[in-house]
Amino acid sequence: MMGKLRSFGPIGLLLVLVTPALADSPGQIAVSSAHELATEAGMDIMAAGGNAFDAAVTVSAVLAVVEPASSGIGGGGFWLLHQPESDRSVMVDGRETAPAAAYRDMFLDADGRVNRDLAINGALAAGIPGAPAAWVHLAEHYGSLPLAELLAPAIRLAEEGFEVDQKYQTLLNFRAHIMLQWPETAEIFMPDGDVPALGTIIRQPDLAGTLRALAERGFDGFYRGEVAERLVDGVRAEGGIWTMEDLANYVVAEREPIRISYRGHELITASPPSSGGIAIAQILNIIEPWDLSELDRVERVHLLAEAMRRAYRDRALYLGDPDFVAIPTDMLLSPAYAAGQRSTLRMDRALPSSALAADPAMTMESDNTTHFSLLDADGNLVSGTLTINLPYGAAYAPPGTGVLLNNEMDDFSAAPGEPNAYGLIGFTANAIEPRKRMLSSMSPTIVKGPDRIAVLGTPGGSRIITMVLLGLLDFIDGNGPESWVSMPRFHHQYQPDEILVERGALEDKEIAALRALGHEVNVRARPWGNMHGVMLNRKNDSVEAAHDPRWQSGGAEVRSQP
Ligand code: GLY
Repeated sequence: MMGKLRSFGPIGLLLVLVTPALADSPGQIAVSSAHELATEAGMDIMAAGGNAFDAAVTVSAVLAVVEPASSGIGGGGFWLLHQPESDRSVMVDGRETAPAAAYRDMFLDADGRVNRDLAINGALAAGIPGAPAAWVHLAEHYGSLPLAELLAPAIRLAEEGFEVDQKYQTLLNFRAHIMLQWPETAEIFMPDGDVPALGTIIRQPDLAGTLRALAERGFDGFYRGEVAERLVDGVRAEGGIWTMEDLANYVVAEREPIRISYRGHELITASPPSSGGIAIAQILNIIEPWDLSELDRVERVHLLAEAMRRAYRDRALYLGDPDFVAIPTDMLLSPAYAAGQRSTLRMDRALPSSALAADPAMTMESDNTTHFSLLDADGNLVSGTLTINLPYGAAYAPPGTGVLLNNEMDDFSAAPGEPNAYGLIGFTANAIEPRKRMLSSMSPTIVKGPDRIAVLGTPGGSRIITMVLLGLLDFIDGNGPESWVSMPRFHHQYQPDEILVERGALEDKEIAALRALGHEVNVRARPWGNMHGVMLNRKNDSVEAAHDPRWQSGGAEVRSQP
């Protein structure tokens, strides 16, 4: 039975609300994703008897086809799973890895400067993909339906095509000039030789063939044999360093999520190689003594910005692939450490970032990457954030594969203190090493309160972390997903030493008050993020789902499952 649909709030925002009968078994299914075709496919898989983990595979694979700017079979991601019966949560880590021939200085020129072109465009920029291995892993270990059935909607859409939307166009505008360097790739995504008009049908027959090989042969269909050979040949022909062994050796990891309590709520969120969970947990630990409801907006923004500043400094200093570096997680999340961070925090004055040890400069990240949140009829939850890094990744697809390569190698710090495409810098912990996973900001998150459970996440590079923070604080304030996804955003990331605000997020007098405290405040005309949330409320047995109004293409749906 189809749930009741209601339009809500600004254009592009869809809130759906269904009220079922049973208290402990929600009996409802919900998906919110960045594309309505992915949402529909995920809902259909669950309606056909699949569980949330099956649907996570289907939604991820369909997004890979219909939202090629943001994620894909050539990329990676984190899938945060929660099973309510056992109260078990796990993060499936399908993050890309550096090829075995990668080395610390591989993007430096003779003068020791980072060659930005090589770091983000073409074959050398690509890490070994993790997404297809993660889909196989999810299907084998958590799903209930055959992989071929889960991938069928993506294969059909790759063959039959989908319509170009505003997001496809907007993001391709940033990357078209690079993609045109590889005519076979440009033919797929720009069939008429230019950024296509709205409604143009994009067909990807080579990608359909690659997806079919994965559906038929599982891991081996992508990482060994014909597809792997084409990938390696195409990468090496363009100056890349992948080998057949790199692909065959790719391994999905299962990670314990970061879990902390905050004011009666349990936070379950992404662990390293994501930096997001630790940073969010640090911020919550720092602000815990304050009752945010007693603060006015200026005090609240000031407090959060000060906590963000401190957490982002630690991100640059300490975080990297946990299989390669010893991350002092216990220290970073300890009450004593939070107390130390608070000891320099004053409510009447901003602390310049330069006064905190280390001086990593960080700037902006854009709205690529993608996120989906979903719930099945047994209450299983998935919060998934996936990426190929910059819009359309490395902008190159090895011939005959349809696999748009990621440019995730740029998420490593190519040289100590040298900013990447987003201005993020790091030090040794995130230096390039063979087979290492690059640090990420992706923060798929679940928050459990006394009655309500939130599933949320967003793209947005370094700002993912603060968006998820603001979203979960809004949930804890008592609001539902339509509020989390649409609320105006602000952000501080240590360096540059500024509070970034979306236009309209603060009144002029509030900005003036923050400046009087010593903050630099910069208002951005362009909004950021693309949050997708689902909420289960056991008090009234309702489920809500909402997608971010900032883009038109998202889809949020809730249905009662008979
Ligand atoms: N490529 C963006 C991230 O993983 O944070």
